Amino acid sequence: MKKIYLFIIGFSLIFIAFGCADVQDEIVTNKPTGVHPEGFGKPGDAEFHSNWFKENNWNLKFCQQCHAANYAGGTAETSCLTCHTESAGPEACNTCHGDFSNPERISPPRDLSDNIETTARGVGAHISHVYDNDLRENIGCYECHPSETGSDEDYVYAHVGTPPADIKFGDFASSSGEPTYDFTGLTCSDVYCHGNFQFEKDSSAFQWVYTDSLIQGENFEPVWNQVDSTQAACGTCHQLPPRGHFNEGGDPDALSCGLSGCHSGIVSAEGEIIDKALHINGKADGGI
Ligand code: HEC
Ligand code: HEC
Ligand code: HEC
Ligand code: HEC
Ligand code: HEC
Repeated sequence: MKKIYLFIIGFSLIFIAFGCADVQDEIVTNKPTGVHPEGFGKPGDAEFHSNWFKENNWNLKFCQQCHAANYAGGTAETSCLTCHTESAGPEACNTCHGDFSNPERISPPRDLSDNIETTARGVGAHISHVYDNDLRENIGCYECHPSETGSDEDYVYAHVGTPPADIKFGDFASSSGEPTYDFTGLTCSDVYCHGNFQFEKDSSAFQWVYTDSLIQGENFEPVWNQVDSTQAACGTCHQLPPRGHFNEGGDPDALSCGLSGCHSGIVSAEGEIIDKALHINGKADGGI
């Protein structure tokens, strides 16, 4: 009897040994485990990786070490592209700011700290300038921010830094002087678009309109994070009509701008902008 028992025990040991070897064969891989906290891949979790980025200067290069330069897996054998489905993967312009589910919307709201309310300095008046501009054509990012040369990929690595964002005005905003942005008061000054303009009587084809040598705007200084439409109202950037124009300030409801032969291609009889390509385009368009 004893012999039979020993045989069974011996057989079992051999079986267990082979069994273990089989299991080990299956996990032969260089993939380390436990490198990330539990919730690193779980949206909504306090340990989710988007919080790591906010604390570590959006350092994508760190992830590339294990997940590969193209984020497709690497030694980590876990692809970022299953969730980051844009062609640029996690480098898409709407990953860190803008609408994560809409690659057409890359500017805040959703600033770098996930704020969406316009009082947040990272959000401010982006939407009304960049996507839903009622007063002129939509404005590109680099009219207010510095552009970098090189590919989108170079740009991603070059521009990422610690907020606040860099501000550098483009040629259009600077058409009549050097605009500035005050990072404390969050105001803009000397921006062409907000009424830093002078048109000279001497060079005008409509000299009879002038009551002075210049027609001028009000050089208004808007507060970036006060988005309540008061700062985009008619009369803020230039009076209606502007200084130096006959009837200066005499028509605050803009009902006469659209008279035939004056600015009828730009402003309706109700005082509304009807051609956004002609308003705030760098020229005093008249006689149309
Ligand atoms: C040292 C190598 C290494 C680095 C660096 C690294 N990862 Fe990973 N990552 C892994 C491995 C290995 C896995 C497989 C999951 C596991 O078993 O822990 C993984 C898995 C993941 C997962 C899936 C986690 C889950 O629970 O499903 C996400 C998300 C992730 N990594 C994001 C990142 C991000 C973002 C970075 C850069 C901030 C990064 N990883 C940097 C090795 C790394
Ligand atoms: C399980 C799906 C999933 C995986 C896998 C994943 N991500 Fe994400 N990632 C997300 C989601 C969802 C967000 C957050 C979007 C939001 O805040 O609305 C995000 C946010 C980010 C952000 C933005 C951080 C910020 O500022 O909010 C970066 C950068 C990023 N992921 C990089 C990576 C990288 C690199 C990998 C692979 C190493 C990876 N992700 C893998 C789903 C994933
Ligand atoms: C990995 C996260 C991340 C990705 C991806 C990303 N950005 Fe950014 N972006 C940032 C951060 C962080 C800042 C704030 C930079 C600073 O401190 O100046 C920023 C700022 C900006 C600014 C304001 C100007 C500046 O440089 O501060 C613009 C414009 C911008 N990004 C455009 C883009 C575009 C276009 C893309 C796609 C080609 C892109 N971003 C992709 C993180 C990202
Ligand atoms: C009319 C000027 C203007 C335009 C156009 C503009 N921005 Fe900005 N942007 C700003 C200002 C002002 C800030 C706030 C700076 C501060 O923090 O004081 C800012 C901040 C940012 C930030 C930083 C957000 C944060 O959390 O701190 C990002 C990212 C950004 N802009 C991206 C963009 C992108 C992308 C575009 C184009 C789609 C764009 N901006 C167009 C003026 C502009
Ligand atoms: C954000 C500043 C701003 C606001 C608000 C504004 N304008 Fe203007 N407007 C300008 C600038 C700058 C010009 C100078 C000419 C140009 O570049 O088109 C101008 C020019 C004009 C002109 C001359 C025709 C031309 O060249 O565009 C008319 C008419 C006019 N504005 C009507 C209005 C009316 C009506 C409103 C209210 C609905 C209004 N503006 C609100 C900035 C503004």
